[in-house]
Amino acid sequence: MSLTMNPQMLGAAYLAAGALFILSLNGLSNQETARRGNLFGMLGMLIAVGATILSGRVGNFEILFPAMIIGGLIGAFIAMKVEMTSMPELVAGFHSLVGLAAVLVGFSSYLDPNAHFEGSEKAIHDVEVYLGVFIGAITFTGSIIAFGKLKGIIGGKPLTLPGRHLMNLIAILVCIYLGYMFLQSGTHEAGLIPLLIMTAIACVIGIHLVMAIGGADMPVVVSMLNSYSGWAAAATGFMLGNTALIVVGALVGSSGAILSYIMCRAMNRSFISVILGGFGTGGGAVAIVGDEEGEVTSTTAEEVAGLLKDASNIIIVPGYGMAVAQAQGTVSEIVKKLRAKGKNVRFGIHPVAGRLPGHMNVLLAEAKVPYDIVLEMDELNDDFPDTDVSLVIGANDIVNPSAQTDPNSPIAGMPVLEVWKASSCIVLKRSMASGYAGVDNPLFLKDNTDMLFGDAKDSMDEVFKHLG
Ligand code: TAP
Repeated sequence: MSLTMNPQMLGAAYLAAGALFILSLNGLSNQETARRGNLFGMLGMLIAVGATILSGRVGNFEILFPAMIIGGLIGAFIAMKVEMTSMPELVAGFHSLVGLAAVLVGFSSYLDPNAHFEGSEKAIHDVEVYLGVFIGAITFTGSIIAFGKLKGIIGGKPLTLPGRHLMNLIAILVCIYLGYMFLQSGTHEAGLIPLLIMTAIACVIGIHLVMAIGGADMPVVVSMLNSYSGWAAAATGFMLGNTALIVVGALVGSSGAILSYIMCRAMNRSFISVILGGFGTGGGAVAIVGDEEGEVTSTTAEEVAGLLKDASNIIIVPGYGMAVAQAQGTVSEIVKKLRAKGKNVRFGIHPVAGRLPGHMNVLLAEAKVPYDIVLEMDELNDDFPDTDVSLVIGANDIVNPSAQTDPNSPIAGMPVLEVWKASSCIVLKRSMASGYAGVDNPLFLKDNTDMLFGDAKDSMDEVFKHLG
């Protein structure tokens, strides 16, 4: 009995997989349905891979199966080991593999001795190969640079070479010309040369493009590369005539583009200005200087506990530092205690808090914080004047008032949580160091702001003890 699927069955299987991927994206848009969304995604992928294996167009099972098992084991091992805070690096690393796969498939599809395309079919196939390799190569090297920047191997400062936009433009024009030569070439041998040169240029474009982008814009870059990797996969799908890959690629490509757009809006930056780069600095331990007036006042865990006991309305704003300190469990316990005392406690989540979209939501869900008290920035930003205490846990850029007051600030115009409008604002962090964007934060100098210095987990443990 042959286990090969007929074309109708294959089409139906790919359709089912595509529908499951759409359901998966839909599920992932909400914390309560995210688990189900993941399951749909896994099932869709299982169907897509299974159908492709049974399509009759895949051979060499003695290589395919061991490769799948080894790859699957590596993936499972990495996924189990990875810390939530390293997720963006992991995603960037995976994108680079998608890009590399698109390049390799492009070359093998072009050089495949069994493929015989004629006339317009050949022209279309060649365009698919060229585009797939071009996008794939940019994604490959761009993602490696993004990985390096996120991991801190490469500095976060943007590399702004003189005339860099012109260099990019020239590189793209040369690639277009090479594309013309590639399509005109009569033989594979002649076509291979422009294809190889274009691949090298596209690799350099990928490096240059991401090197020019500063640390604060890295989330957008990761999501943009996510989008590129989707289009590279879609191009690969066209080359291989694989409908599932085309659908998945288009879904990833468009959802990545939409996410990039949403993030740009959250930072009040245009997508083009992000792509053109040159924004932000290395971030990290830059001491507060600036000409802001005011003094830094520090407080103790006992005082903070007292303040919370006296408050009726409390808004907690978590940031990257809460993730680093892994303080979410204690924060959740504190919230439980305060709510039991009848206090109105809510969380305000900035769209780019932490280091990846939804970072804070995932941590709070993990710590079993009820979903209905976790609100988006826009849902509670107007409520700070009626709030007794705003508790900023390891957040910095997302609560920086200079985004509103200093037009020269690198984060000028970025919407921020207006924590300083609460009667009292407590900021938990270890030092006066700046956040990811590397800019000073005048919040720390405000009269109604007190700093609770120390690791956020240790500080929260202390506050919990004093809450009684
Ligand atoms: P940041 O501005 O990076 O500030 C985090 C603060 O946490 C730091 O100032 C740090 O101060 C403190 N911190 C670090 N470890 C801590 C610990 N163990 N205990 C207590 N505090 C600790 O974070 P944010 O306010 O969440 O803003 C996010 C920034 O990252 C934005 O600029 C955003 O554009 C960028 N970004 C976002 C994403 C996404 S998609 N969310 C991805 C990449 C980058 P100390 O060193 O003094 O403790």
